[in-house]
Amino acid sequence: MDKQRLREKYLRAFDFARTQLRHLVTAYPDAFPMVTEGGKWKIGGESWTNWCEGFLGGQLWLIAGRDSDPFWQEKAEHYSRLLEERKHDRTVHDLGFLFWSTWKRWYDRTGDPAIHRVVVEAGQTLALRFKEKGGYLRSFVSDDSLFIDIMMNVGIIFYAAQQTGDPALLRVATQHSLTTRRYLVRGDGSTSHEGLFNTETGEFIRQSTHQGWRDDSSWARGLCWALYGFGTVYEFTRDPRFLQTAEQCAAYYVEHTPDHGVPPNDWSEPNPTLPYESSAAAIAASGMLNLARLTPDPLRSRFYREYAHRILDTLTEPEFLASETTGWEGLLKHGMYHQRKGLGVDESVMWGDHFFLEALDKALDDV
Ligand code: GLY
Repeated sequence: MDKQRLREKYLRAFDFARTQLRHLVTAYPDAFPMVTEGGKWKIGGESWTNWCEGFLGGQLWLIAGRDSDPFWQEKAEHYSRLLEERKHDRTVHDLGFLFWSTWKRWYDRTGDPAIHRVVVEAGQTLALRFKEKGGYLRSFVSDDSLFIDIMMNVGIIFYAAQQTGDPALLRVATQHSLTTRRYLVRGDGSTSHEGLFNTETGEFIRQSTHQGWRDDSSWARGLCWALYGFGTVYEFTRDPRFLQTAEQCAAYYVEHTPDHGVPPNDWSEPNPTLPYESSAAAIAASGMLNLARLTPDPLRSRFYREYAHRILDTLTEPEFLASETTGWEGLLKHGMYHQRKGLGVDESVMWGDHFFLEALDKALDDV
């Protein structure tokens, strides 16, 4: 690993993020775009669901952590405050995405108990989605639906359980994670996007997808949510089953992805029209840097670290980083939100930029 070369690339990418985010919050004040259209942030319009509003504030906190210009802290606080009422939002399963990226980072910087209370309340609200029959947190779609994405959000319930000592929260979070592991993670380490249950009996019925190729296929971003999310659950619980699951997902990712480290939208789709889903790669890089820290095996730790740097080396090339693409407003090109709905196809996506910046922030401590 050529540390000096990578460090220079990562620092240049971080500088580019500063430029793009300053433009975004100045040109579109108080807007929360999810995706670009032809490289320009799309303001308003269809979003399918409201899960992304924490990723702009999250990037502002990441920059504030490395830049003492008060502009960043002020903007990060402002964009976090705009979300506060969402701590009561019972319509989405995404309160971890919303509050872990923003208010939790704010709390970590300040230690302010009032900020802490908001994070805990968000975790308590998310736990209200729990279906006793079936043992899962229901997705935003319907009572019978469990999404793999929720593995990225369940951490905030574990956190609320730890902070309040409430055993009911711990039970909900643990049961949700075990149910997801049992029904959405397959024996080969691939994952299903969605599981459907009989709400009367709790019986698992079948696997399904919204954003993948088909119900039995491997949607790349879903697997990356699992890779990262089960690692987080292991960090809270130290239950080795969760680390094993995260590592199985990581092994599937590595085995099925080209050497440059960026997967397509779905590994199972033959001859996909687009070769890349860069946001999945950004999530995988950040999740693997976590696994490098969590696994007790030094060889695997080294492997995850080096693979994460391989992904970031690719994502900081002009094919992916938009720094040489005139007029492009996001950070990473070639992201994919929802191909069937025609939303964010081969564009920048806000969570992709967020997890890219998060991965760079961690990776900079290594090189
Ligand atoms: N809805 C979460 C995702 O698109 O990954």
